[in-house]
Amino acid sequence: MRFTLSFILSIIFAVGLVAFGFTFFQSSAEKTKLNNELEFRTGQVVKEIFHNDTSFFEKIDQKSINRYADSINKLYNLLGFAIYYNYDSILCNSSVSSLIDYSKAYVYQSVTEETSVGNFFKSDGKKIYQYVKPLKHIDRYNKAVVFYADARYINKVIGRIWFRNFMGWFIQAFLVSVITLLLIRWGIFRQIKKIVIWAKAVRTGGGGEIRPEPHMDILDPLHKEIEFMAKEMHAAKASADQEARLRTSAEAIWTPERLKVEMENLLQGKKMIVVSNREPYMHIHDGKEIKCIVPASGLITAMEPILTACSGLWIASGTGDADKETVNKHNKVEVPPDDPKYTLKRLWLTKEEEKHFYYGFSNEGLWPLCHIAHTRPTFRNDDWKYYKKVNENFAKAVLEETKDEEEPFILIQDYHFALLPELIKNEKPKAKVAIFWHIPWPNPESFGICPWQREILQGMLGADLIGFHTQYHCNHFLETVNNALESRVLWENFSVKKGGRTTYVKPFPISIAFTLKDYDIESPKIKPAKLLNEYGITSQFIGIGVDRIDYTKGIVEKFLAIERFLEKNPSYIGKFTFVQIGAPSRTLLKSYSDTVSAVENEAIRINLRFKAKNWKAILLLKRHHSHEEISPFYSSSDFCMVTSLHDGMNLVAKEFVASRHQNDGTLILSRFAGASQELQGAIIINPYDIEKSADAIKSALEMTKEEQNQRMIQMRLVIVRHNIYSWASTLLRTMATIN
Ligand code: G6P
Repeated sequence: MRFTLSFILSIIFAVGLVAFGFTFFQSSAEKTKLNNELEFRTGQVVKEIFHNDTSFFEKIDQKSINRYADSINKLYNLLGFAIYYNYDSILCNSSVSSLIDYSKAYVYQSVTEETSVGNFFKSDGKKIYQYVKPLKHIDRYNKAVVFYADARYINKVIGRIWFRNFMGWFIQAFLVSVITLLLIRWGIFRQIKKIVIWAKAVRTGGGGEIRPEPHMDILDPLHKEIEFMAKEMHAAKASADQEARLRTSAEAIWTPERLKVEMENLLQGKKMIVVSNREPYMHIHDGKEIKCIVPASGLITAMEPILTACSGLWIASGTGDADKETVNKHNKVEVPPDDPKYTLKRLWLTKEEEKHFYYGFSNEGLWPLCHIAHTRPTFRNDDWKYYKKVNENFAKAVLEETKDEEEPFILIQDYHFALLPELIKNEKPKAKVAIFWHIPWPNPESFGICPWQREILQGMLGADLIGFHTQYHCNHFLETVNNALESRVLWENFSVKKGGRTTYVKPFPISIAFTLKDYDIESPKIKPAKLLNEYGITSQFIGIGVDRIDYTKGIVEKFLAIERFLEKNPSYIGKFTFVQIGAPSRTLLKSYSDTVSAVENEAIRINLRFKAKNWKAILLLKRHHSHEEISPFYSSSDFCMVTSLHDGMNLVAKEFVASRHQNDGTLILSRFAGASQELQGAIIINPYDIEKSADAIKSALEMTKEEQNQRMIQMRLVIVRHNIYSWASTLLRTMATIN
């Protein structure tokens, strides 16, 4: 009510102000016009009177003046006239006798200036116009005639204008108030009411709909703001719901403690042995000191937390230059060095073995064979010979370690040990043997070019269980077996029967150590400026890439996408830096040293192209980095970019997501990495498509916080639910249940 009243008064005042201004100008103009007309008309009348009879005023006297005046007044619509002789003798008709005092000064002015003058004056509240005309008598002006005209009608006209406009103003103000009030009531108020109901529903959780009905344009800003808030509340609520669900089902989330109990149940006191080529801890000389480092390897990222949780024995090649100095007489060392939890047994490869087994058959044969990255595999007889020999050496070591054990659990890792399952099983048929293939398995035609494909398949089929990251790789493997070996592939349960032995082939998407506890840990976020400071770079935005420098990782393609992005979006030049952490790997092989050079050259070329003071487009940090060194880059970057041309899983993608405790940031992920099947909240790219990858960088940098949150929460929940402890428990339980 108060609003309505003040609203109406404001409208009345506003309309009144406009009407007053308008009327004022209109009446002033009209008054000037009427005055001018009267002046003009009186002047014309006087002219006419003098034109008709110039001697008229010579002859007139007091007796005749009233008579003359009556006829002139009637004829010309005047009040009357007066004749002044030498200023003091005045002759006038009776109707104007009261006016003569107003004229004297003008008569004087007219006679002395020898010109006619006219002016308005008021007598008894009446508006009068007087026109003074000087008269000549023998070459000299010494008398004048004053004509008086009634000017009252002018004020009447002006009064009518004011009245008419006042009425108009009143009606206008009334109509404007009524219409505006109706508009507000039925238009805006109704809309606001709807928005209030909608906002309330959103707040209380009842508003599933983010956008209500169409609304008025003027409410757009309000509407947008509420819509934005509503979306944020929805997202926050969705995440809270998801997190709450996660917490209530906390017992379903795998933890190291839970895995430990599970393994105790499964193993029943039996020994568990993990075999891999790469060791989890490598001792190296650093000046006079011996340093212990964790090599860059997805396999180690995944297996280390399992061994830490459940102890056991890990057998691997000792490749650190100080490894021999740190083992006991059984070639064993307790690790992790700071807080030992399990035993690492190192086997020593001879130079020849390293050359042919590791560099040769494993990394120039099987690695390019399994990764479709267009690097041709090389197969040499000697490499194959040593591959068999090293597999036999490792088999011996495993058998030695399990000589008192009939049914140990042996978990073999990766493509270095394809022959190991059969070698072990032949000697120890009751052992539970699984091999997990950390890299992709290609289609049968591609794999078929390997001269020893049958021996490799045969060796692997010695295992009770063969694991891959994806069902797709399992299918490729089974098709390869089907094509190459005399065996029975049972597609209904994904197994192979050969020589009375059954091997199950199943997907186990590997993961990282990420529990509910880790989910909640807040890692400090460092500002990009601070992070890049030590490299002399100032940048507002950071992208991060962490890879072993390997031709399968698509690092050059990634750099080309960054170049294209800056080309298409020059406003980011000087503001965006991509940090590529690259661990040199297998550098004795030409294909790898070439990759290192290609990566370095591209970074230099692109940096030269987009040169700016205190800024670089690409910061290439080419050395081994510890997890602690990588972590601040993970948690502070705007996005992480994984561009693998072919990859089994890619745990960098998962580590980046796990590090984003504020659920912000974006992951750009190659669709050729196994992780892309699980991490659907990522921006999925084809790394060969430079144009689209460049656009993905823009989308990642400009994605709303709200969308980042939704995507990140979805991915983080996937990882916490399918962490490495759940991976291990599923794999070991599957192994345990196989007879
Ligand atoms: C991949 C393989 C691992 C290997 C790692 C590092 O992740 O699947 O088996 O350990 O690369 O390679 P490297 O040759 O240095 O062990």
